[in-house]
Amino acid sequence: MSEYSAALLEVKNIGKSFGAVRAVRNVSFQLFPGEVVALLGDNGAGKSTLCKLISGAYQKDVGEIFWQGKKVEITSPDVASQIGIAMMYQDLALVDEVDIPGNIFLGRELIKKIFGIVPLLDKHTMRQETEKLLARVKINIPDINRPVIKLSGGQRQATAIARTLHAKDAKLLILDEPMAALGVQEEQKVIQLIKTLKEEGRTILVVSHNLDHVFSVADRIIVLHTGAVAGIVDAHKTSREEIVGLIVGGGKRNDQ
Ligand SMILES: Nc1ncnc2c1ncn2[C@@H]1O[C@H](COP(=O)(O)OP(=O)(O)OP(=O)(O)O)[C@@H](O)[C@H]1O
Ligand SMILES: [Mg+2]
Repeated sequence: MSEYSAALLEVKNIGKSFGAVRAVRNVSFQLFPGEVVALLGDNGAGKSTLCKLISGAYQKDVGEIFWQGKKVEITSPDVASQIGIAMMYQDLALVDEVDIPGNIFLGRELIKKIFGIVPLLDKHTMRQETEKLLARVKINIPDINRPVIKLSGGQRQATAIARTLHAKDAKLLILDEPMAALGVQEEQKVIQLIKTLKEEGRTILVVSHNLDHVFSVADRIIVLHTGAVAGIVDAHKTSREEIVGLIVGGGKRNDQ
């Protein structure tokens, strides 16, 4: 029962189809506490779909998911968040016309009661909490009260990450291409942030197309090819060539 019981998350033989497209096929892997695992694969390989199966955004057709050794049914993002899983989606899902605090607290707005009865949005606390979260992401946004449509790509990304961090006590953070829209400096800040989250003992599953980023943060690498696992490798015991080979479908390796 050594490795098995120590896994934070285990997925076993999960699959998901969209009509005739088998987006995720018979995928199995484990994630352990405090590790950074990169999820790689070509466009359309099934990375986002797999992440969404874990975050409750999609429901698996087959397979099992275990959380801290217990079988779970992650039937919605709310269920995921209750057990300690938070995801930052590739398509960001920010509401353009709403400001940063509004986006971070979307769907879980803080309410205060005036005279103990009249419910009102607690904008002051939401703003304070937003400032704190942004300070952690370390990306400078001069005016958090502007609608997010007026922000740069990097600032939007920072907002999306801050929103994921806000999910209370998330033990597993799933980041789907968090560096995609960023400048070089901002990329480095996100990499630093991932390292900090790891030091806090969280597990991070991060999707990226950038092998430099992957090798700078990942402990292990999972490669998907046409929806199936092509490789699960120790990031310190592989090479760019091997990873590229797995991505394009030129082999198999599974260290797990
Ligand atoms: N909601 C959906 N409805 C129908 N097909 C979908 C849906 N989501 C994904 N697919 C299909 O499933 C496959 C996997 O898509 P997915 O988005 O998971 O790939 P990905 O690895 O995240 O790609 P990318 O690197 O481009 O983000 C693709 O063939 C895609 O067209
Ligand atoms: Mg994707």
